[in-house]
Amino acid sequence: MKILVTGGLGFIGSHTVVELQNEGFEVVVIDDLSNADEKVLQGIESITGKSPIFEKLDLREKSKVTDFFQRHQDIEGAIHFAASKAVGESVEKPLLYYENNLGTLVYLLQELSKKEAASFIFSSSCTVYGQADKMPITEDAPVKHAESPYGNTKQIGEEIIRDSCRVLPHLQAISLRYFNPIGAHPSGKIGELPIGIPQNLVPFITQTAAGIREQLSVFGGDYPTADGTCIRDYIHVVDLAKAHVVALQRLLERKNKENYEVFNVGTGQGSSVLEVIASFERVSGTKLNYKIVDRRAGDVVSAYADTTKANKVLGWKAESSLDQAMKSAWDWEQNIRN
Ligand code: UD1
Repeated sequence: MKILVTGGLGFIGSHTVVELQNEGFEVVVIDDLSNADEKVLQGIESITGKSPIFEKLDLREKSKVTDFFQRHQDIEGAIHFAASKAVGESVEKPLLYYENNLGTLVYLLQELSKKEAASFIFSSSCTVYGQADKMPITEDAPVKHAESPYGNTKQIGEEIIRDSCRVLPHLQAISLRYFNPIGAHPSGKIGELPIGIPQNLVPFITQTAAGIREQLSVFGGDYPTADGTCIRDYIHVVDLAKAHVVALQRLLERKNKENYEVFNVGTGQGSSVLEVIASFERVSGTKLNYKIVDRRAGDVVSAYADTTKANKVLGWKAESSLDQAMKSAWDWEQNIRN
């Protein structure tokens, strides 16, 4: 069965391609290589013994998207990762984000809706909840006003899919609301490749320990949490990748109850920034140079998932501990530095 993975050479995309191939799917990857390296294909091949079909394509070029689907008429489903994801950049360049993240989504859905049947998985984010009133966060928690154009693209993206599914009964879709994906494949052959200074916590930690950054700034030590630092739900990227495969299988086997569904994908466990640092120090055996500084604008105090729905309905559960995820992130950092 042929599945399209857009953004399939990126961090979460590449791990998902591996899990799809492990389950016997034939994968076609589209990536514009704006934030990914073609060498990732070799990493995927050395893990699974097979390279996916790859086409360098910018999804904003509508006629090329149409042409792609004409050449691959046997595609039965798509997992859509391709998007821009830097929160700060989205504030500076909102129109670029709306074009990259929403224009392309519309083109993909238009092509899929021409088929007799199609399954679609969308990369959404816990960012849609903003600062939720209750922890852990369930899927029916209200979607709060987005803090950034990036966050808004995830909210509007979900609405575009919901509206499309309402009038296209042959389109089956699931949005997965990711919490904080971290770590790397245990083989050490694929992982996160942040360009420039990492904005996210874990790559900043591993780069600091590797001597590329001098010191980690911990943003805020005066939050109303046990140790004063923010709480997040850090999920191993391989667990997250597996969630995509089970969600897709649910749609392909028509086990879904409605033709549009939403699931949280997290571990259900909240960890503070200081707990993440402690985990890193434990698994790496190194001391991390860090300093508590002012809060970062736009950060919520706490966000962790209630995963009951994914556990029960998808039969999926995150398996890896925070320590295992941090160990894999550190192994990967050391690998790429060698
Ligand atoms: C961020 C994005 C979110 C996106 C997610 C995944 C923001 C406001 N949110 O989530 O929309 O979906 O990444 O890409 O950017 N921290 C430090 N020092 C650092 C970096 C981070 O202390 O150098 C802290 C942050 O304050 C936060 C935690 O670590 O408490 C996690 O931060 P980060 O990895 O950036 O993820 P989020 O902000 O949760």
